Amino acid sequence: MSTSSSTAAERDFKSEFLKIVFILFGVLFICFSIFFIKHHENNKYIIETLELNGSAEEGDALFKINCVGCHGITARGLVGPDLHSITQRLNDKEIIKQVTGGLTPPMPSFEIDPVNMSNLLKYLHSLE
Ligand code: HEC
Repeated sequence: MSTSSSTAAERDFKSEFLKIVFILFGVLFICFSIFFIKHHENNKYIIETLELNGSAEEGDALFKINCVGCHGITARGLVGPDLHSITQRLNDKEIIKQVTGGLTPPMPSFEIDPVNMSNLLKYLHSLE
């Protein structure tokens, strides 16, 4: 009697356990997919930007609209750091991540299309 009831309990436990494992795998799979898609999108954005040859003047105009408040009208630094010779310290990929990532508050993340991002990069290169 007691053996049969313990096997029933065991069976219950097993099916609960399987359910939890199944759910965990589902959640992991979804997280992984989201991560993969995000990563892929970011890479696509960076590759697209780096393939373009931007215009420093357009970048200068963009900089005056979006960045001077913190980096100064001549990019010599204010709240944010001086950006002269930034292209010697950071590579283009790192600069793109800095501008679009919002990883270093108070600097916001900018939603900027590849053409304008490429213009900004050209401008930053012209500051060397
Ligand atoms: C609200 C203020 C603010 C605005 C607007 C802003 N930044 Fe920044 N930025 C900062 C601060 C503060 C840092 C330093 C962050 C840190 O390193 O912790 C920074 C860092 C950077 C860096 C890295 C500098 C280094 O020495 O590593 C780059 C490149 C940069 N900003 C470019 C830009 C560009 C391009 C724009 C305009 C599209 C912009 N920033 C707009 C505040 C700002």
